[in-house]
Amino acid sequence: MRILSGLGPVFPLLLATAVLSVDPAPSPTDPKDFAAVDFDFIVIGGGTSGLVVAERLTENPSVVVGVIEAGEYRPGDPLILIPGSSGPAVLGVNSQNSSNLQNNPIYDWRFESTPQPNLDGTQIRYPRGKVIWQRASGVEYDLWESAFKNPGWNFANMLPFFKKVENWTPPNFLNPGMVSSQALRNAHGTSGPVNVSYNTYRPTTEVPCVEAGNDLGLVSSSDPDSGNGTGLILQARNVNPVTGFRVYAGPAYFEPHVSRPNLKLVSSALVTKINFASGHGSLTAVSVDYVSNNVTYTAKASKEIILAAGTIQTPQVLELSGVGNKTLLSSLGIKTLLDVPLIGENLQDHPVTYSDFEVDDGILTLDDLSFNATFANDAIQGFNKSATGPLSYTAGVIGPSTMQSLTASAAEFKTLMTTLSQYVETTKPKTPLHAAQIKASQDALNAGKIAWIELVMEPLGGIVSVPAVNTSYMTVVSILLHPFARGSVHIQSSDPTVAPLIDPNFMDNAFDIQALIRSSQFTQRMVALTNVTKGPNSPSASVQSDADFDTYIREHTGSTAHPLGTMAMAPQEMGGVVDSHLRVYGLKNVRVVDASIIPFTLSTAIMQTVFAVAEKAASIIQQDNHI
Ligand SMILES: Cc1cc2nc3c(=O)[nH]c(=O)nc-3n(C[C@H](O)[C@H](O)[C@H](O)COP(=O)(O)OP(=O)(O)OC[C@H]3O[C@@H](n4cnc5c(N)ncnc54)[C@H](O)[C@@H]3O)c2cc1C
Ligand SMILES: *[C@@H]1O[C@H](CO)[C@@H](O)[C@H](O)[C@H]1NC(C)=O
Ligand SMILES: *[C@@H]1O[C@H](CO)[C@@H](O)[C@H](O)[C@H]1NC(C)=O
Ligand SMILES: *[C@@H]1O[C@H](CO)[C@@H](O)[C@H](O)[C@H]1NC(C)=O
Ligand SMILES: *[C@@H]1O[C@H](CO)[C@@H](O)[C@H](O)[C@H]1NC(C)=O
Ligand SMILES: *[C@@H]1O[C@H](CO)[C@@H](O)[C@H](O)[C@H]1NC(C)=O
Ligand SMILES: *[C@@H]1O[C@H](CO)[C@@H](O)[C@H](O)[C@H]1NC(C)=O
Ligand SMILES: *[C@@H]1O[C@H](CO)[C@@H](O)[C@H](O)[C@H]1NC(C)=O
Ligand SMILES: *[C@@H]1O[C@H](CO)[C@@H](O)[C@H](O)[C@H]1NC(C)=O
Ligand SMILES: *[C@@H]1O[C@H](CO)[C@@H](O)[C@H](O)[C@H]1NC(C)=O
Repeated sequence: MRILSGLGPVFPLLLATAVLSVDPAPSPTDPKDFAAVDFDFIVIGGGTSGLVVAERLTENPSVVVGVIEAGEYRPGDPLILIPGSSGPAVLGVNSQNSSNLQNNPIYDWRFESTPQPNLDGTQIRYPRGKVIWQRASGVEYDLWESAFKNPGWNFANMLPFFKKVENWTPPNFLNPGMVSSQALRNAHGTSGPVNVSYNTYRPTTEVPCVEAGNDLGLVSSSDPDSGNGTGLILQARNVNPVTGFRVYAGPAYFEPHVSRPNLKLVSSALVTKINFASGHGSLTAVSVDYVSNNVTYTAKASKEIILAAGTIQTPQVLELSGVGNKTLLSSLGIKTLLDVPLIGENLQDHPVTYSDFEVDDGILTLDDLSFNATFANDAIQGFNKSATGPLSYTAGVIGPSTMQSLTASAAEFKTLMTTLSQYVETTKPKTPLHAAQIKASQDALNAGKIAWIELVMEPLGGIVSVPAVNTSYMTVVSILLHPFARGSVHIQSSDPTVAPLIDPNFMDNAFDIQALIRSSQFTQRMVALTNVTKGPNSPSASVQSDADFDTYIREHTGSTAHPLGTMAMAPQEMGGVVDSHLRVYGLKNVRVVDASIIPFTLSTAIMQTVFAVAEKAASIIQQDNHI
């Protein structure tokens, strides 16, 4: 079975540790002391969303919040902080390579999907790590209210929360076709906890890619964040422009407040179960079991239990607690307290495929870090002195694009739309929510309202092919932003340490694969126009026809790790699992604040949206509890 990893640049740990030393830390709160606290709220999961909610709720000193996180507490870890170290897992280098962030058990749950029948049985990795700071188009957030019936959830209402998260610094250069934009400034916040900036290192391949994209009709856009995310854009990133370090929920929302007496966090502690009061009618959550160092503890909360364990594990924790599909739970010997068959369904994720190209002699890419000692040394010095240079690099130019702009002709677009009509006619929606999603997709595709595929120009190889010795590449990544595929995630055992079954169901329909074929062929045309490469490497130049690309893509598809939707926010009669106040239907005091509540996938990387959802969630929780 082949295992394909996500995307991310390839740097040895060596470069990272040359700049900083590893500084692991003990759990901020001892697991036994944690269990002795009388909490108002317990947050399960100290990732992106959990830390936002915990921080906001504890701004009120009389509100006592406990966060339970399974991972280790590692402030100051260079592998996490240095943007360029967030890769890779080169194809073929699987197993436990502790030189890498991904697939390393200290940082990564090392989840894999079920073997994907439409990808030649490939198992896709579900790793962790993040830096692209991106917002979807406004119409997509508006659908949450208009099509999926969640009052108060639209772009205008989300905008203040997007801004509340950010401490934004404008870009210091622009690419061809881009102009300095006041609208871009207006779309961002400047006093929030997450430092947001732009890439400062400009690889030689970058401007030629923009010019070639422009020549083929991709329009440069100066403001992707005010409601239209489509166009060739400069990509923002959650990186502190002064230190060059990646900013994530830990340093932004937790570390500055670690000494708040009403905020407790226990790390290296796995939540195994939520306990409910046995009473009449609606179930009330009263406590949470967690395991640390092989000892089980129970912590109590008087107000609410807040799930922030993410799209994969929030359903897992609920199913382990007896809330889920009764047939499934019974088969695993778990007593069902509440039969909610749609928990874990509606899984959506962004499949990704890649094309790489060998660059012309004399063009330096990030690959040169591994065989040009001068270049590597300069990179370390540059990062150390001024947080600049190749080690500070994160994807600078990306192109969220409509299918109209990626197809070679009106006829090719029409053929694609015929495939879409056939899909719509022959697909029986699973729920009214699913039917609304299909309708919204068809409408957006036909009108070119939102981007369907995102191209990311990476100045390096090693993502989709094993690089030749002393050879440099560029890779163009194609991310399918709105796949029609719907998958699921469910437990396969009553043992909380056994990974859930993750099935994104990639490429289960003809439209999704055709969209990626069109994008891969566009990529070949665009890169040919850049004049900076010797030509295609993977796929090779002989891959031309739709059939050849079909085969190639099925063998080279991964996940961008943007899973969402498994606890969808929508009315119960539509197939929703949480209401518009993020309460799980049928449970009195359990809310979900993570990526799993996002009902419909977005034409963007999702982390910024997850932060904004969590900010809005905190505000809803405060209002509902009058705190
Ligand atoms: C490799 C990778 C790269 C990414 N890159 C980007 C990017 O560049 N841009 C972008 O926008 N998005 C990116 N994402 C996606 C983004 O990081 C996620 O969408 C976001 O972090 C989700 O937030 P969350 O709060 O839902 O879950 P998470 O941030 O995953 O938090 C869940 C937390 O719960 C903990 N947990 C789970 N189960 C338990 C349990 N039983 N007990 C205790 N704790 C538990 C987990 O350890 C984790 O810390 C990337 C994701 C990955 C994996
Ligand atoms: C681990 O990764 C490093 C750097 O990417 C590489 O040099 C090494 O060969 C890998 N080791 C294994 C066992 O794959
Ligand atoms: C980084 O700079 C500091 C001084 O500012 C120096 O002590 C350290 O050796 C430098 N590290 C590298 C790898 O150059
Ligand atoms: C963000 O930048 C501000 C200065 O503008 C700084 O005080 C703060 O520590 C930074 N936060 C992080 C998490 O880097
Ligand atoms: C954990 O505890 C169980 C019994 O409670 C024991 O069988 C097991 O060996 C312990 N595991 C470790 C890693 O200590
Ligand atoms: C519930 O689980 C059973 C057994 O796994 C499965 O057959 C059924 O389709 C599931 N229901 C839903 C709505 O997913
Ligand atoms: C190595 O990198 C330096 C820049 O740091 C560059 O001047 C030199 O040409 C590179 N060498 C080769 C062989 O590409
Ligand atoms: C979004 O902006 C791009 C780039 O400027 C433009 O080409 C496109 O038409 C716009 N889309 C919409 C729906 O306005
Ligand atoms: C690769 O480059 C290194 C350093 O520049 C050199 O020592 C080595 O001989 C080269 N290897 C090949 C196969 O060209
Ligand atoms: C590539 O070369 C052609 C022919 O010389 C030229 O017209 C085109 O502008 C070049 N493209 C770029 C991106 O430089």
